[in-house]
Amino acid sequence: MARVFSGIQPSGVPTLGNYLGAIRNWVALQDAHDCLFCVVDLHAITVWQDPSGLRQATREMAASVMACGIDPARHILFHQSAVPAHAELAWIFNCVARLGWLNRMTQFKDKSGKDREAASAGLYVYPNLMAADILAYHATLVPVGDDQRQHIELANDIAQKFNHDYGREFFPLIEAAIPVTSARVMSLRDGTRKMSKSDPSDQSRINLTDDTDSIVQKIRKAKTDPAPLPETLAELEARPEARNLVGIYAALTEATPEDVLRRFAGQGFGQFKPALAECVAETLRPIRAETLRLMADTTALDAGLRAGAARAAAIAEPILRETQALVGLLPAR
Ligand code: AMP
Ligand code: TRP
Repeated sequence: MARVFSGIQPSGVPTLGNYLGAIRNWVALQDAHDCLFCVVDLHAITVWQDPSGLRQATREMAASVMACGIDPARHILFHQSAVPAHAELAWIFNCVARLGWLNRMTQFKDKSGKDREAASAGLYVYPNLMAADILAYHATLVPVGDDQRQHIELANDIAQKFNHDYGREFFPLIEAAIPVTSARVMSLRDGTRKMSKSDPSDQSRINLTDDTDSIVQKIRKAKTDPAPLPETLAELEARPEARNLVGIYAALTEATPEDVLRRFAGQGFGQFKPALAECVAETLRPIRAETLRLMADTTALDAGLRAGAARAAAIAEPILRETQALVGLLPAR
């Protein structure tokens, strides 16, 4: 059975993009796989995080994914920094990955922006840590949004080079599980940028903890155009904001964008937006309530994460020891 691993950064409250692009697929994979889900706090600090904000966001992320349906009893939910094998394996991968590979990473280019010299070294080697997250468990199936495709390819390049250099088929090939309809949910303010929990404008995203009033208000104010919805998807190509809202509706109702257009063609956003807002609010209402309930007891939440980390470490440690031996590092014990 393929082992599943996925991670999410505690760099804010998870968004509808995180839910449709990633978390919802994590939930679905639980039935037929052994899964590890990780709140990647070490990835989050590649850009500045206020320490108390980081603690809060780590708990909130864990509570949110449980509220979405992740079962920490049957599977493993933990925070990355609690399992040292991630950072230790990442160092070895820093020595396997080539600068030329990292220089091609578009997420680094986006996140470092114009002042690349001022970006942290951690942001640059971020994909090596991500490869270590996955490969420390010999996981082979990784549910992520479309923006992570390039990082998964890099992880495979690292695994292949490691296997080649050390002469053993040790790390397996990783497959990304990317959803078809909701791989990339875009900002409500700009249909060409992805919806992100780190966007300075709260109006650009739906947070999983938004109440019905703010959902309705954000969707009412979402950027659109005056034309009614067309009959074919091709006609939406030059209308990224409209395309995005149709995509969200399709993903939430588990329909195709074509189905949505069949239903709403000819109608304006005055009709479509309230229908969409209702759909979003319906989906998020129970998630929000359960997140708030779990957040009320941080002692239990922290204990649960630590217990998850102990189970994760029991899988990762032997794999790390074997990696170290292959590299030629003397055993520590
Ligand atoms: P991050 O928020 O960058 O930690 O991403 C966590 C997971 O959510 C990853 O699998 C991403 O690919 C996915 N994700 C993040 N933002 C979006 C988005 N706007 N649309 C679809 N998937 C997303
Ligand atoms: N880089 C991912 C993101 O920003 C988060 C992540 C870190 C991840 N490690 C991972 C996702 C391992 C999948 C597997 O979205």
